[in-house]
Amino acid sequence: MAQEIRTAESLTSEAVAAFEKRFGYKPTIGAKAPGRVNLIGEHTDYNDGFVFPMALPMVSVIVGSPTTTGVCRIETLNSGTDSPRYTEFPIDNLEAGKPKWCNYVKGVAAQMPGTVPSFDAVIISSVPLGGGVSSSASLEVATYTFLDQMNGVDSNISVIDKILKCQKAEHEFAGMPCGIMDQYISMTGREGHALLLDCRSQQGRLVPLSDPSVVVLVTNSNVKHELTGSEYPTRRRQCQEAAKILGVPSLRDATDAALEAKKSVLDEETFMRVRHVISEIKRTDEAAAALETEDYNTFGKLMVESHNSLRDDYEVSCKELDQLVEYAMEMKDNGVFGSRMTGGGFGGCTVTLVTALNVDKVIEHIDTKYKAGGHKATFFVCPPSEGASIISL
Ligand code: ADP
Ligand code: GAL
Repeated sequence: MAQEIRTAESLTSEAVAAFEKRFGYKPTIGAKAPGRVNLIGEHTDYNDGFVFPMALPMVSVIVGSPTTTGVCRIETLNSGTDSPRYTEFPIDNLEAGKPKWCNYVKGVAAQMPGTVPSFDAVIISSVPLGGGVSSSASLEVATYTFLDQMNGVDSNISVIDKILKCQKAEHEFAGMPCGIMDQYISMTGREGHALLLDCRSQQGRLVPLSDPSVVVLVTNSNVKHELTGSEYPTRRRQCQEAAKILGVPSLRDATDAALEAKKSVLDEETFMRVRHVISEIKRTDEAAAALETEDYNTFGKLMVESHNSLRDDYEVSCKELDQLVEYAMEMKDNGVFGSRMTGGGFGGCTVTLVTALNVDKVIEHIDTKYKAGGHKATFFVCPPSEGASIISL
């Protein structure tokens, strides 16, 4: 069975009640921002390539109020973070520390234009934490939206600047050199649409995805291998070094012919990494065009090619993700168009495009087979949803 997804209203009520209980007064400001699933275009954002994400119906919510004490007091209602879940920090001396979860909030506060007052806040999220669907970016973007509202929205700051500030928060306070995709889609997602984002021009094009006969199934493997933290910066560095060797500003400008020409000077691993990036950028462009004409078969085929390339050339998949994709593709004659790992890799989620009529049967099949291997998956049927917004309390 697919997981029931909590509404933002229900999350907000819980956060408001917890706020009143902890601080003894009512919060005045609320904001929310969604997690994301990337349909195709993986490990291409930091290579100036294309990505094709959509915003999820799962959101991070933050409610709170400004204070005059100079000390921020903040609680998360989510388990699955490091302890303690309540913490305090001075607003005029923001630095990364412990608990780690609070670094996303501090990091964004440090990026805000102007002077940010201290604040009390409670956070809650329906985005699975550490599941590769950007709970962290959704927390950053929700925090930005919250603080923006608290400060009186600064109209001189463009949407892209806000996105870049959230990305910088992740780089500097969480130590994760991520690309721009997660914060971009969490800020700007549109209901009923996926977003083809050109990470070089930082321009997005909305592509409708509202045909009721197909659904996007997100399957959480519920595993996260420790490699995630160390391998991501390694991949990023390999790509930068390869671009230098190929004599291009970024791998967005690399071609198959240029790669072949440099084969003898690239080590085998780097060669494979570049082959993934070149082919993935091309696939993403093609996939967006296929979705535009509702050509789900082509889209699904490209999803599987993307997965294979991430598994074999980029080497960021893992046994559990490969199994989930394999089990999904066993239902090819039962409504599954395509399936692939999504996000950074080494665990987290897969994304599957499937006919609405067959989704329950597909879930049951994957669930049974994955269970037989000793694992428990979680399933979410996800309509493309809205990006960040203020919540009126
Ligand atoms: P992902 O962003 O894919 O979910 P990450 O490992 O990058 O995975 O980020 C997950 C981390 O983000 C959590 O371990 C926690 O520190 C932080 N986080 C995300 N959402 C929340 C939340 N609601 N409350 C507290 N911390 C959160
Ligand atoms: C994410 C990262 C994104 C993107 C993705 C891989 O974890 O935050 O920016 O690079 O991995 O496509």
